[in-house]
Amino acid sequence: MILIVDGLTKKYGDVIAVNNISFNIEQGKIFGFIGPNGAGKTTTIKSIAGLISFDEGNITVNDCNIIKESEKAKSVMGYIPDTPFLYDKLTGKEFLYFIARIFKMTKNHIEKNIDKYASLFEFEDYMDLKTEDYSHGMKQRIIIASAFIHDPKLILIDEPMVGLDPKIAKIVKDTLRKYANNGGSVFLSTHTLSLAEEICDEIGIMNKGNIVYKGNIDNLKDKLKKDNLEELFLEITKNE
Ligand SMILES: Nc1ncnc2c1ncn2[C@@H]1O[C@H](COP(=O)(O)OP(=O)(O)OP(=O)(O)O)[C@@H](O)[C@H]1O
Ligand SMILES: [Mg+2]
Repeated sequence: MILIVDGLTKKYGDVIAVNNISFNIEQGKIFGFIGPNGAGKTTTIKSIAGLISFDEGNITVNDCNIIKESEKAKSVMGYIPDTPFLYDKLTGKEFLYFIARIFKMTKNHIEKNIDKYASLFEFEDYMDLKTEDYSHGMKQRIIIASAFIHDPKLILIDEPMVGLDPKIAKIVKDTLRKYANNGGSVFLSTHTLSLAEEICDEIGIMNKGNIVYKGNIDNLKDKLKKDNLEELFLEITKNE
């Protein structure tokens, strides 16, 4: 298991954003979180990324406790937040260098990976422009590349496809699948149900802080006798 979330609870004052949830992700698998606005997806991802404290439970990433061995756990993760942040005055290349240096990568390794992802996500021509001059989708490509740059074992993505054109969205999808096929693991949250259906090995449906279903999409469809994920999602989250 690359990720073990055990009894995670996070409260904001009286609001229980995440209510005693547990799930695991195996190496080489893509796990997708879907759920209505305010369900607790971002809160869960931020807890795993080590960005916020939580009230109860344990999170283990690659055998390291996210609180007690935070730096070690973070060193094997790549994180793409729901509202990506770039340093406007840096060029795309400088930003990727900056991130890679945080992970203590060597110059050769950095250059190799920058070339790889610039070519894959087609931003070679923008590399030396300041990111303040990028379009939304171009910023998103740099952010996605920055999560892959240090060859992490686990990638966390909060809404990966927002703002990407169809061609790059497909490339990102294929890249995630290939990365998982080569032993990487992905935890993503999405409102794009077709994406969850297409690339996730397993999904968790979250509602009001609880995981109301966890497992394989086909099994869930069989169980509820629905053949479409949208209907299924509406059914599962309607009365909660
Ligand atoms: N910093 C915060 N302070 C107070 N309450 C918060 C904070 N962040 C989130 N919440 C609350 O926690 C709950 C879960 O929010 P969260 O952002 O995790 O949902 P989400 O599933 O990511 O939703 P969305 O689909 O809209 O991105 C909501 O009720 C939200 O209002
Ligand atoms: Mg969110």
